[in-house]
Amino acid sequence: MNWENKEIDESVQGTATMIEGETDGLKKLYLESYGCQMNFSDSEIVASILTKSGFSTTRNPLDADVILLNTCSIRENAEQRVRNKLSQFNTIKKNNPALVIGILGCMAERLKTELLEQEKLVDLVAGPDAYRDLPNLIDTADSGQKAVNVLLSREETYADISPVRLGKNGVNAFISIMRGCDNMCSFCVVPFTRGRERSRDPESILNEAKELFEKGFREVTLLGQNVDSYRWNITKKNEVIEPSKPTVSFAQLLEKIALVNPLLRVRFSTSHPKDMTDDVLHVIAKYHNICKYIHLPVQSGNTDVLARMNRGYSREWYLERIKAIRTILPEASISSDIITGFCGETEEEHQDTVSLMKICNFDYSYMFSYSERPKTLAERKFKDDVPEDVKKRRLNEVQTLQHDLAFKNNSAAIGKTFEVLVEGISKRSSDEVYGRNSQNLTVIFPKENFKPGDYAMVKITESTSATVRGIAVNNN
Ligand code: SAH
Ligand code: SF4
Ligand code: F3S
Repeated sequence: MNWENKEIDESVQGTATMIEGETDGLKKLYLESYGCQMNFSDSEIVASILTKSGFSTTRNPLDADVILLNTCSIRENAEQRVRNKLSQFNTIKKNNPALVIGILGCMAERLKTELLEQEKLVDLVAGPDAYRDLPNLIDTADSGQKAVNVLLSREETYADISPVRLGKNGVNAFISIMRGCDNMCSFCVVPFTRGRERSRDPESILNEAKELFEKGFREVTLLGQNVDSYRWNITKKNEVIEPSKPTVSFAQLLEKIALVNPLLRVRFSTSHPKDMTDDVLHVIAKYHNICKYIHLPVQSGNTDVLARMNRGYSREWYLERIKAIRTILPEASISSDIITGFCGETEEEHQDTVSLMKICNFDYSYMFSYSERPKTLAERKFKDDVPEDVKKRRLNEVQTLQHDLAFKNNSAAIGKTFEVLVEGISKRSSDEVYGRNSQNLTVIFPKENFKPGDYAMVKITESTSATVRGIAVNNN
C-alpha cells in the first residue's frame, strides 16, 4: 500500500486515529490505527461493524471497555511501536481487569496467537478478513476465553458494509477496491498478512462513491496493493467468469468513478510498474477530475536488485513507464517508494537508485531502509548483509536528494495557477486554508470565504520542499 497521505503515514509519523465523536452506548470502544491507507480504511469498516452492534466510542483509553489496535507489520519498527503501545494499555488493565485489549490487522495475522498466549499482551486477535466476527470475539473475550480469528478469506471484500468515516474534514475518503496481494515481492510481508488478491464488486464501489458525493465529499482515493490488477468477472488468464455479465478492468472502473460527478476528484493507489497500462493513463488524461498524480514505487534503480526483490520489471522497463506517463500526462507528478540496503546491495547498485531518482525527477518519495521480515522470500533466500550504518547512510543520501528534487519542483510551481480543493483551515493560522492541487501538492492560501470542499484557483507565490503558498485568483 502506498504512503502518500502525509497526515496518516504511520511509517513516517506513527499516527493514531480514533472514531470521531462520543456517543452514549452500552460499551465504549477505543480504536487506534497504524499502517497504510488500507488499514485506516479497514478501521472505518471495524467502526461500522461495532457501532452497529451497540458500541459507542471514546477518545480516551481510560474510559474504554474495549481497546483495539489496528496494526502494521511492514517493518520491524512498526511492530515495535505497537508492542510499546500494548504495554501501556496493559497498565490501564491492571486497574480495570474487565478491560478487553485486542489486536487487529497485519500484526494480528502475522503473529496469530503469540501476543495472546506467549506474551499475554492481548485478549483478542482478529486478522484483516475476520472483522465481521468482532462482536462475537468481544463476547468471547468478555467471558474470559481466548478470542482468536485469523482466517484469511478468498472472497471477503466487506462490499456491503458502509464504512463510518473517521477522517474529520468530510472532503476526502478512501474506498477499498480490492484486498490482498498476489505478488511475491521478496522483501514484503503483505501477501502473508492480507492473503490472496480479490477485487470488490464495481457496483458497490460506484454506489459508495455516489453516496460520498451526495454527503458532500469531493475526493475519493481508490485503494489496493496493486490497483492495476483490479479485475471483475474475468480471471487472470482473461477467461470471462459469467458470460452474461460485463467485465470491468481498472481503467474501466476509474472511468465509471470519474463519471459520478465532475466535481468529485478521483485518486488511486498503488500502481505497480509491471502492470500499469497505457489504457489507465489515457483514462486519466481524458477526465479533468482524475488527479494527475501517479504513485509508482520503484524500490530500486538497479535491475539485479529488482530481480532479487522479485518485482517483475527492470530499470529500463520502469524508465519506459515513466516516459509513457510524461508523454500521455505531461502535467502529472510522480512519486515513488525506495528501499535502501536490500540484501546484497552494492555501492554501485545503490548509485543506480540515485541516478534513477534524478532521471525520474520524483516529486515525492517514501524512503525506507530494508527491514527483514520473517517468512518472506528474502528472509529464506538471501542474507540481510548490508550493515545497518550503510543502510542508514544510503537512506540519508536518497532522502537528501529527494528533498532537493522536491524543492526544485516546488520552486518551479511559483507563478503557476492551479485548481485546489480546499480541505481545511491551516493549523498555523485561522486566516489560511490548505488543500491540494491535482498533482497532490499541498497549497496554503488566504482563507477569504473559502470552506472545506470548495475549489479555488490559486496562483503560487512561495515554496518549500513540502508545501507551497499562494493567493486565490479569478474566483467569482
Ligand atoms: N503494494 C505497494 C507497497 C506496499 S508496502 C507496492 O507494491 O508498491 C509500502 C512500501 O513499504 C513498499 O513500497 C516498500 O517501499 C516498503 N517496504 C515494504 N516492505 C519493506 C521491508 N521489509 N523493509 C523496508 N521497506 C519495506
Ligand atoms: Fe508487497 Fe509487492 Fe504486494 Fe506491494 S506488490 S504489497 S510490495 S508484495
Ligand atoms: Fe498495510 Fe502495514 Fe499491513 S503497510 S497492508 S498495514 S503490513
